[in-house]
Amino acid sequence: MASHDFHALTLAEVAPLTDEAVSLSFELPSELSEAFRFTPGQYLTLRADIDGEEVRRSYSICSPVGDRRLRVGIKRLDGGRFSNFARDLKAGDTIEVMPPQGRFTAPLGAPKSYLLLAAGSGITPMMSIAASVLEQEPGSQVTLLFGNRSSASIMFREQLEDLKDRYMTRFTLMHLLAGERQELDLFNGRLNADKLTTLKERGLLDLDDFSATYICGPAAMIEDCSGWLVDQGMDKAKIKTELFTPAPGSQAKAASAAAPVDPNAEATSIQVMIDGSTRLFDQRPGEDYLDAAKRNGVSVPYSCANGMCATCRCQVVEGEAEMKQNFSLEDWEVDSGFVLSCQLVPKSKTLVLDYDAL
Ligand code: FES
Repeated sequence: MASHDFHALTLAEVAPLTDEAVSLSFELPSELSEAFRFTPGQYLTLRADIDGEEVRRSYSICSPVGDRRLRVGIKRLDGGRFSNFARDLKAGDTIEVMPPQGRFTAPLGAPKSYLLLAAGSGITPMMSIAASVLEQEPGSQVTLLFGNRSSASIMFREQLEDLKDRYMTRFTLMHLLAGERQELDLFNGRLNADKLTTLKERGLLDLDDFSATYICGPAAMIEDCSGWLVDQGMDKAKIKTELFTPAPGSQAKAASAAAPVDPNAEATSIQVMIDGSTRLFDQRPGEDYLDAAKRNGVSVPYSCANGMCATCRCQVVEGEAEMKQNFSLEDWEVDSGFVLSCQLVPKSKTLVLDYDAL
């Protein structure tokens, strides 16, 4: 399993992807190649000191397996601290990077037929999945439906065209634009259940063909498209999803509100097992888990601190805990005692958490 230690990596290239997005390519020293080995679909957590404050963000790897450089794509967000910081980076700068994490993965092996649905910057993990599959699974087919606002906002446009040229018979690419008219009306509009219905009715989407489906984008698009696929009879287990930004009011999978703080409550004694070692600290009533770990000088893995990325996933092996919100763990994980520790609310006086559990 990947370690949670950060490594200082040097930027080999910072390249514009659109007016709002850049790609960062990291040179990987040979001694770190094993630690940074990844499965297509995984992400890197980057850490930087911005205006005197530590900021972490996760970005999906967009380069294919076997590439000599590790690349991520970053779209600028209004007020986004890391995404705005990234625009000023240049080759030769150093960034702290955690080895690849994430379970939105496409393990390479037997030939399959992949359906990839991406919206906006949700394309980044799909770039790695599509390129890796097409290069390394010669018998596989890939269909990518990619939704954007306009042609100017399409990330990796040239790289996608290159893939199409190289793998004409195995790669099908459909661009859908919501804010710009294309010649064929069929490809105008958002990527959602209605659009999938139309594509199916026109014979451009035969769901019987697909053995693996990946969806990445905003919550509303994921919920709409995955719900439609299940309604059409696709096995839910075949569909993997990765959320980029939760929609306002979107339902977390196992949310449970934190109880009001009892003024007489005692602190919880927490033991964490991580990367083979054990640490102890206390979490005060009402205190945020990550703040408690920091106050005690204990380093625990996290990135989004928002219940989305699962960098902080661990298993409760003793005691009881709940999560404030969960946009990422599957039902079986919650049933098996896994929690997103950035959202952890202790429900017992002692807790033992295992970050090494799979
Ligand atoms: S740090 Fe991202 S889910 Fe906890």
